Amino acid sequence: MPDTTFVDYSTRIPNNVDLASDNRVLKALEQWHPGYIDWWMTMGPDGFQTSDVYLRTAVSIDPKGWAKFDYVKMPEYRWGILLAPQDEDRRVNFGAHKGEKAWQEVPGEYRAMLRRLVVIQGDTEPASVEQQRHLGKTAPSLYDMRNLFQVNVEEGRHLWAMVYLLQKYFGRDGREEAQGLLERRSGDADKPRMLGAFNEETPDWLSFFMFTFFTDRDGKMQLESLAQSGFDPMSRTCRFMLTEEAHHMFVGETGIGRVIERTCDAMKAAGIEDPYDIARVRSLGVIDLPTLQKKANLHYSLSLDLFGSEVSTNAANFFNAGLKGRFMETKIDDDHQLTSATYPVLKLVDGEIRTVDEPALTAINMRLRDDYTKDCQGGVTRWNRIIEKAGIPFRLSLPSVAFNRRIGEFRNVEASPDGKLLTAEQWAKMRDQWLPSKDDGDYIASLMQPCWERGKFAPWISVPKIGIDQKPGDFEYVKIHQA
Ligand SMILES: [Fe+2]
Ligand SMILES: [Fe+2]
Repeated sequence: MPDTTFVDYSTRIPNNVDLASDNRVLKALEQWHPGYIDWWMTMGPDGFQTSDVYLRTAVSIDPKGWAKFDYVKMPEYRWGILLAPQDEDRRVNFGAHKGEKAWQEVPGEYRAMLRRLVVIQGDTEPASVEQQRHLGKTAPSLYDMRNLFQVNVEEGRHLWAMVYLLQKYFGRDGREEAQGLLERRSGDADKPRMLGAFNEETPDWLSFFMFTFFTDRDGKMQLESLAQSGFDPMSRTCRFMLTEEAHHMFVGETGIGRVIERTCDAMKAAGIEDPYDIARVRSLGVIDLPTLQKKANLHYSLSLDLFGSEVSTNAANFFNAGLKGRFMETKIDDDHQLTSATYPVLKLVDGEIRTVDEPALTAINMRLRDDYTKDCQGGVTRWNRIIEKAGIPFRLSLPSVAFNRRIGEFRNVEASPDGKLLTAEQWAKMRDQWLPSKDDGDYIASLMQPCWERGKFAPWISVPKIGIDQKPGDFEYVKIHQA
């Protein structure tokens, strides 16, 4: 067996799956490559394709030393196929096939289901690159610009990861799906991306940080549950993707954290104690905390929709088939088959929000969403510590799961962030207090002035505590050459 710890860079497509001796797949990927580059050039970061960006590239899948940093022009980034190491003894750990040896090939009966899972995951990856393509132009610093581009090239690599699975395991339909992934476009009326949140705009940096905190975190949860898959190549692919995803979480959490810190510092310096004195806070050129809460309300609720219906037979089928497990499946203390277990689900019953026990098997989405909420809450708590330390009487919070939903139990009702059901008129009256208004958007847009000088930061965001790859504060993370 070839050494799979290190990545083979001798082929055009770097990999640790011995592509050199898998001619059929290598050819299919090489044929797909030009279309991908075309897509990257037209839909990737606008205006920076010739700039030198200080990026990390995976050179090994060893968790301690997998990345190397260097200046790279993004179209020359070495997008590769990287799978976590194979464990010969791995088993299917849940569902009807629990205890069987993990599958190295797609089980015939689950082919369509599995392909669907790969395509849905795959579709989100290029979508976010498309959503973020104009942000470089308004980057608040070279440091942030570099982080944006790092996220972008890694989302591109995640697309490669899913396309590899399609090309290797799904024959002709896999190739067609791989093509389709390059053809849909975020927000396009005729050929939209598959999931709602990936067709929304990411117009400014506050949206970008919220997106990486809330929506990339949905991605993390999906990858976590696919990493449990009995289909071993899926599991190995997702496990490696999660190591990259951790950086995306970091960008979101620290990005918002720095905005909060800057706002609190400016308020203190100006002697403003009331966080709701929005006009005065804005006159300082920083983002007021109530607006941050509205942005969080928006991105959290859009991201909750990505988990699908709370009660879902599809999710039950994926679980039963051993294709998609729960968060930390192997650490959960139960039978991993859920033949008789129940799970509490929030539902709309007689016009009220109530907890109802549902069969745990059909409540898989709800459970994953609850785990997601806990993960989000951790970040929100850390943000609140910054506000608390500044002595400002304000706390951010996650809105009710009934707030602003388009999918699932609460899709047909309106609710306040604290979970009270509202009439359409009540909602219309309050909407702009809870979600970003046109005014809020205009104000944020007015702050989005590029700040590209080495070591300088836009006035609405604080300086990061440490540099990327331990670089000093004035490091030139992007050498800008505009085409
Ligand atoms: Fe991704
Ligand atoms: Fe991501």
